[in-house]
Amino acid sequence: MKIRRAVIPVAGKGTRFLPATKQVPKEMIPIINLPMIHYVVEEAILSGIDQIIFITSSGKNAIEDYFDRNFELEDFLIKSGKEKELELIRDIGKMVEVTSIRQKEQLGLGHAVLCAKDIVGNEPFAVILGDEIIRGPRPVTKQLIEISEKNNNGNVIGVMEIDPLETYKYGVVKGEFLANDKKTLRMTSMVEKPRPEIAPTNLATPGRYVFKPEIFDALKIIPRGVGGEYQLTDAINLLAKNSEVFAHVFEGERFDTGNIEGYLNATVEFALMNKDSEVAMRKIILEKIEKYKIK
Ligand code: UTP
Repeated sequence: MKIRRAVIPVAGKGTRFLPATKQVPKEMIPIINLPMIHYVVEEAILSGIDQIIFITSSGKNAIEDYFDRNFELEDFLIKSGKEKELELIRDIGKMVEVTSIRQKEQLGLGHAVLCAKDIVGNEPFAVILGDEIIRGPRPVTKQLIEISEKNNNGNVIGVMEIDPLETYKYGVVKGEFLANDKKTLRMTSMVEKPRPEIAPTNLATPGRYVFKPEIFDALKIIPRGVGGEYQLTDAINLLAKNSEVFAHVFEGERFDTGNIEGYLNATVEFALMNKDSEVAMRKIILEKIEKYKIK
């Protein structure tokens, strides 16, 4: 069955970006001139998704507005003869069908995904975290969809190789590689933030998933977990006991734009990759190295 829908949870409080996130949703903070969420929605569209389901909370209207048409602004740009800008904002308003559901209380990522149950219905779907940008030769969600299709439409978790000494920062998967695909594991469980000595692998989960609707049954029965929140990891572990869950080592570089260091990394990298800003960014970096005597 074709995967048409992607759930993008954006209801979190974004405390690592306070005070900006007191008023601006974290996902609307721009990297150069595009908000973080733009890159994530673009990945979904390039993966063949035609409906985005945002899980939102109060104060997140800017995200829905961003993907809507803004006729007043369009009218202004027409009158000012700014055709290029007009094209840009019109295209965003037409990108994809967007639906939003409120998560009334921020009870965790697992609870956020469960909020999409009625809209998703009885179809497989993708989950994409709104504050993680992954860039690579092919959209990551598309890579996971392909692995799901090859493996009897099974559940697939996107994983990336990390420094084995840093497993304590991530959710890490346990499992065996498939005989015919050394990038895909049959997953037996997921371990949250294991110390390097006891980590089963160095394959971590940065927030890309393809699920069958059975994930909702698991999400409904898990108790509150770490931090008193309903954890998606707990539901995936439950699922792995009764059903097939694969973990796929995707191709691509991940930017954790939910924290300041990852955000800075993405800003510099994207500026260097963009032909309009590359020259300026190179100049800025060289000047700073000189000015602050960076070795
Ligand atoms: P984070 O753990 O990064 O939380 O959530 P956060 O609130 O966004 O940021 P910090 O840690 O306070 O700085 C991971 C993802 O899950 C979503 C968040 O919006 C983010 O995309 N989430 C988390 C929800 O949608 N609802 C929740 O109850 C919790």
